[in-house]
Amino acid sequence: MSEVSVLICEDKIVKVQEYNEESENEYRMMQYLQGRLPVPFIHAYEVSNDKSYLLMGKCKGEMSCAPEYMQNPRVLCRLLADGLKRLWSIDISDCPSNQSLPYKLAQAAYNIENGLVDLDNVEPDTFGENGFKNPAELLQWLRENRPDEELVLSHGDYCLPNIFGVHDKVSGLIDLGKTGIADKWCDIAICYRSLSHNYSGRYQKNITFTGYDESLFFQELGIEPNWEKIRYYILLDELF
Ligand SMILES: Nc1ncnc2c1ncn2[C@@H]1O[C@H](COP(=O)(O)OP(=O)(O)OP(=O)(O)O)[C@@H](O)[C@H]1O
Ligand SMILES: [Mg+2]
Repeated sequence: MSEVSVLICEDKIVKVQEYNEESENEYRMMQYLQGRLPVPFIHAYEVSNDKSYLLMGKCKGEMSCAPEYMQNPRVLCRLLADGLKRLWSIDISDCPSNQSLPYKLAQAAYNIENGLVDLDNVEPDTFGENGFKNPAELLQWLRENRPDEELVLSHGDYCLPNIFGVHDKVSGLIDLGKTGIADKWCDIAICYRSLSHNYSGRYQKNITFTGYDESLFFQELGIEPNWEKIRYYILLDELF
C-alpha cells in the first residue's frame, strides 16, 4: 500500500523506499534482530539520492494472507499468536528503537500538520456523524485517553502480509519500519483489524473464506481481549 518498490529475485528481495526515519529504523531493527527472531538476512544496504536500498533474503513459507492460511483460521491464528509470543519474549533492555506512545503521538501530530493522514483509508466510523470531526480532534482524544502501556518488543505493523509462516510457526517477519519498544496491545489491535479485513473479503474479492471467528485469535494468544485498548490503537493507526 505504500510507495515502495519490491524487486523479487529467486532467493533475495530488494526493497527500495524513500530514505527517512522509518526506512532507517527498518534497517536498524532488522540488524538488531538477526539471530533473535526470524527476520530476513541482510545482504546489503545502501542509501543514495534520498532512497534506501535493502537487499535481503526472501522469507521461506507463505504470507499469512495466502489462501492456504485463510482456509484454516485456527492454524492462521496459531501462527499469528506464535509470532506475537516470540516478539514478547525478546529482552528489550538494549533495544535500539522506542516506539512507545510519546513517540507515536508526536509522529501522529507531524502527520496531521503535514497532510500525511490518508482519509480514504480509515474505518467507516472513525470520522463523521458518529465519530470524530477531524484528525486533530482524534489526536486530542488520543492524548487525553492514553492507556497504561505494557512495554514489549512490538512489530508496529503486525498485519497479515507482513508475517510469513511454515505451518503454525513464523518463518519471517518483514516491514520493520515501526518496530521497537511499544505496548503489546498495539500489535494485538493491528492484527485483530487485519484478520477482520482479510476475512471480510475486502482484499480477495473472488474467494470467500469461512470459519473465522475472532475468539480464535484470543484463544490462541491465551489472553482476554481488552477492547478499550484495541479500539485505542486502531484509532491511533488512523493517523498514520
Ligand atoms: N524478505 C521478503 N521475503 C519475501 N517477501 C517479501 C520480503 N520483503 C517484502 N516482501 C513482499 O513485498 C511486500 C511488501 O513489502 P513490505 O511489507 O516490506 O513493504 P511495504 O510497502 O512497507 O508494505 P505495506 O504494503 O505494508 O506498506 C510484502 O508484503 C511481501 O509480499
Ligand atoms: Mg508490508
